[in-house]
Amino acid sequence: MADQTAAPTAAPKLITLTIEGRPVSVPEGTSILEAAKHAGVLIPHYCYHPGLPVAGVCRMCLVEVEKFPKLAPSCATSVGEGQVVHVHSEKALEARKGVLEMLLINHPLDCPICDQSGECELQDYTFQEGRAESRYLEPKRFNPVEDFGGDVVYVTNRCILCTRCVRFMDDVAQEPVLNVSERGDRAVIGKFPGQDLTHAWASNVVDLCPVGALLSKDFLNKARAWELDRTASICPNCTQGCNAVLETRDDVVVRMRPRANADVNQFYLCDEGRLNYRWIERRDRIERARVRGTTAAEWELAMSTAATLLAGKRAFVLASPMLSNEALFLLGRLVERTGGAGAFTVATGPEAPLPGVPDLALRRDRAANVAGAEQFGFARSDSPLDGLRAGDVLIVADEELAGRDVRLPDDLGGLIVIGTVLPAWARDPDVVIPVTNFAEEEGTFTNLRGRVQRFMQAKAAPALARPAWYAVGDVLHALGDDSSFYTASGVFDAIALAHPDFAGLSYDALGLRGLPVLSAAQLAADTTTTGAAR
Ligand code: SF4
Ligand code: SF4
Ligand code: FES
Repeated sequence: MADQTAAPTAAPKLITLTIEGRPVSVPEGTSILEAAKHAGVLIPHYCYHPGLPVAGVCRMCLVEVEKFPKLAPSCATSVGEGQVVHVHSEKALEARKGVLEMLLINHPLDCPICDQSGECELQDYTFQEGRAESRYLEPKRFNPVEDFGGDVVYVTNRCILCTRCVRFMDDVAQEPVLNVSERGDRAVIGKFPGQDLTHAWASNVVDLCPVGALLSKDFLNKARAWELDRTASICPNCTQGCNAVLETRDDVVVRMRPRANADVNQFYLCDEGRLNYRWIERRDRIERARVRGTTAAEWELAMSTAATLLAGKRAFVLASPMLSNEALFLLGRLVERTGGAGAFTVATGPEAPLPGVPDLALRRDRAANVAGAEQFGFARSDSPLDGLRAGDVLIVADEELAGRDVRLPDDLGGLIVIGTVLPAWARDPDVVIPVTNFAEEEGTFTNLRGRVQRFMQAKAAPALARPAWYAVGDVLHALGDDSSFYTASGVFDAIALAHPDFAGLSYDALGLRGLPVLSAAQLAADTTTTGAAR
């Protein structure tokens, strides 16, 4: 990590060159391959990945540089002042065609049964610039499929030996498990004896593999790449707030993959986070509003019954730290309006850092919005119902208190469940209001470093469920609050006006990578001085 006490360094020297006729200026030391991205030119590559040390082993990134005696591997060649680079010249194309032909000598014609098909860089580049027919008539090399442990399976025949997986385990996970075994055309990726890909972040090798050689057991044969809808989201499974893509097939979440964000998770997701998505599709969802004594009630009746119940009483809100900032903000307003209180609890587990990336870990708190719950006035507690007073109306906001033996006091002033599922201990509430989970709505979470990040709606809500902010906004309205909210961004604008930490923020300003709240610098400083990690 950067030394905070060091004097500010001078801006790096800019180098100007021409790539495919386009002038581009980049900092000294940049590779031609990265410079080409700035010029809007994609140079084909396999072994290069911006998160890994450069290996220069695949030769797929060969380009012609004027005045160079021979073609240059653009991933391993730095830019030079006045360089003129040709990516699509005849010489460069011919060389890359040869590289592809060599890779395909032993690569099977597996595309119809390969999970990577449709998102495979070998398919794409062969289609773009490979030979139309093979000249190779001899039988192909064959090796059996190998279980690499964890969620990873190795389909040896498809491997192009780019070594991205080996370098990830060596340099990023810093747990050397993989190696290149054998040499020449017999070379394969091997595991050191007795070792398995069980590191907490090992499944990133599946995303890094440019072909279908490393596959996820969890996703095996679940969908073809072109059947998937992809939505920008945030992993909800701990306070790190890794940027993710939720992939759905026919409105069902089938995979979660990393979305690059240099400020949060670089290119990675941990195994626990990426594989914990099945709960999104729970079948025991609350689908309709209900008031006691009915099987289904109109939304409006549920709202007015909730308001009548709350009139003149204190609301005690048991909130989930998985709720969005928008929902927590309005629940906080409900607490304030009734003079009540709010609390939350959070499941915990062992912390698991990714050593090669500063400040990236599977965090102890296994919920996305612990910081948001605290920001909006909810008290963290292992016994979150302790603050409940006689006569309070208990509002259970999507919290099941799973695994706990909960007994509600007899002197409750009422029980309202605003949730995705009905907790086992709250079987006969006065009012039930169905709400969506994070995949079915848009909103924001605040991560442990105070970074506010947006997630988008990835799939349809079940039946009549609506976002929790919408439900709470309606309850507030029924109680006489003069605000009305119609969109998640509208609620966020209200947060920005009401909460000094969020001043000046908006959905547009946050974009898809998020921004830190104003006190985030303080949060970071506290963590540095106390060493605390939540
Ligand atoms: S398994 Fe994939 S990432 Fe690893 S060397 Fe082979 S092609 Fe590259
Ligand atoms: S570190 Fe946390 S936020 Fe990131 S993928 Fe893992 S569980 Fe999700
Ligand atoms: S990407 Fe440059 S040699 Fe592999």
